Amino acid sequence: MFATSSLLRTVSRQFSTSATTMSIKAKVLVYAQHGQPESVLKCISHELPSSPQGSDVLVQTIASPVNPSDINQIQGVYPSKPDKTTAFGTSEPVAPCGNEGLFKVLAVGNKVTSLKAGDWCIPSNVNFGTWRSHALTDESSLLKISKTITEEQAATISVNPSSAYQMLTMFEDLKPGDWFIQNGGNSQVGRAAIQIGKKLGLQSISIVRNRDNLQELVDELTALGATKVITEEDNASREFGKTIAEWTKGSPIKLALNCVGGENCSNMARKLGKDATLVSYGAMSMKPVMIPTQLFIFKNLTAKGFWITANVTRVPGSKENTLKAVQKMMEDGDLVDVKVTHVPVSADGSEEEVFKAFETALTNSKQGKQLVRFT
Ligand SMILES: NC(=O)c1ccc[n+]([C@@H]2O[C@H](COP(=O)([O-])OP(=O)(O)OC[C@H]3O[C@@H](n4cnc5c(N)ncnc54)[C@H](OP(=O)(O)O)[C@@H]3O)[C@@H](O)[C@H]2O)c1
Repeated sequence: MFATSSLLRTVSRQFSTSATTMSIKAKVLVYAQHGQPESVLKCISHELPSSPQGSDVLVQTIASPVNPSDINQIQGVYPSKPDKTTAFGTSEPVAPCGNEGLFKVLAVGNKVTSLKAGDWCIPSNVNFGTWRSHALTDESSLLKISKTITEEQAATISVNPSSAYQMLTMFEDLKPGDWFIQNGGNSQVGRAAIQIGKKLGLQSISIVRNRDNLQELVDELTALGATKVITEEDNASREFGKTIAEWTKGSPIKLALNCVGGENCSNMARKLGKDATLVSYGAMSMKPVMIPTQLFIFKNLTAKGFWITANVTRVPGSKENTLKAVQKMMEDGDLVDVKVTHVPVSADGSEEEVFKAFETALTNSKQGKQLVRFT
């Protein structure tokens, strides 16, 4: 938990600006050293010119989510890291937090061709530092997003639904009617995979953690398009395998998506048919992936990893193609709004207010997806 005031270490910096230049006081969440977010984060402010020059674009953040990878990045246990910089006016280099978010263009320089004031855009790359109120950046680091989807969808389009789409389409040549299985079925990736799978005509089994209101969750995921939803206990039971065989009527399950690891993953892998692929993309249980050796020998199982950051570089054009496909599904209502908790804050708010919003979002990040919304 974040202890409020003692950890509210905000730094405000004013830069000299010419008397005639209007400026905006931007706030940004940064860290100088890796560690737990509650110990190392601070909010600093810096001045940005309100009239960008050349290919620069001035944006205001509309919304920015807290993703597990953002937290891992701050902790220093994530392979991709933003560069540290003194550009925000700090004496020691700091790194900005957040990888995903939606921005509104406030103004553009005279050489900008792809964006205009009022447009929506998202970062074209990771490590942008989206936990901030405003940014001044080169046009090339932004991608325009059409306003045909909701703010929540646009702010969270590039990580979770894009990962679900790529994992369902880039590992196995799945045809309508084919089955896939996944754990973390209630995660944002899992919910996206359920819906995208349905749109692609696939049948799915989603493994979720048991809970008091399990039926509520089963109904919710079924309404999204899940063919079957089972608990981790079902997944662990040998007897339950017969029920699954009845559901699939002998069709092999060709793909498994793993974001949990440990026993959950081993048991899920046992459900796969011959020549199937297990794709690991997360480690929510913090336990290693353990695959029974006989699955490799007798079922010719392939086990691979997936990281969207690397995948979009490895497969040129895949980011753009994926965004296009996912956005179309959102526009058509096949991929509904992500379930998020809004944490509102004014873009003109103080450093303390902006810090507090992200502090709240981080504290509650295990209770569902948190979206800090700048008003
Ligand atoms: N490799 C990539 O490119 C990539 C891309 C996107 C996401 N990811 C990873 O995918 C995972 C999910 O991300 P997200 O944003 O969708 O997460 P999220 O919406 O925050 O959901 C996290 C999910 O993990 C489950 N969970 C947490 N601890 C668990 C445990 N000990 N055992 C089993 N399940 C557990 C939660 O279950 P409950 O519903 O029961 O609380 C929840 O459904 C994360 O590990 C993230 O880093 C990876």
